[in-house]
Amino acid sequence: MKLFLDTASVQEIRTVWEIGILDGVTTNPTRVAKEGRELEDVLREICALGVPSVPAEVVAADVSPFIGRLDDHSENSTDFVRDILTIYRHHEYPTEVWVASVRHPMHVLEAARLGADIATMPQAVMEKLPVHPLTDIGIARFLKDWKKAPE
Ligand code: G3P
Repeated sequence: MKLFLDTASVQEIRTVWEIGILDGVTTNPTRVAKEGRELEDVLREICALGVPSVPAEVVAADVSPFIGRLDDHSENSTDFVRDILTIYRHHEYPTEVWVASVRHPMHVLEAARLGADIATMPQAVMEKLPVHPLTDIGIARFLKDWKKAPE
């Protein structure tokens, strides 16, 4: 599954690109409006960054379930994504499923588990993916103990 950043902020793209797990970028009118900038300028800057983009006609042939918004209304987004993936795969449709409205890392895990093609998410979610506090604690402890070891 590919990991996309859902944003219209060039700064956010630059920051997340540094993590090294970014496959592409999506956006929507709400995010563009939040930036308060001309769409053309934003798109030009994003393209200049060299982040992979997908032609509009390809996106139009795909579907993008907004799972966070489904959950907000007590709909089971997992069942929904599983159903559409089952139908498309069963009938061998080439449709890709771009899971969006991702709110936390468990949404990403669920999308991957179900077999979604892409999960697109805000910066705050993507930054949590490669991080685990127990890893940080473990490394800090090993480094501390390494200094105690006789040379
Ligand atoms: O870009 C579409 C979707 O990801 C929006 O997410 O959090 O506004 O429901 P959200």
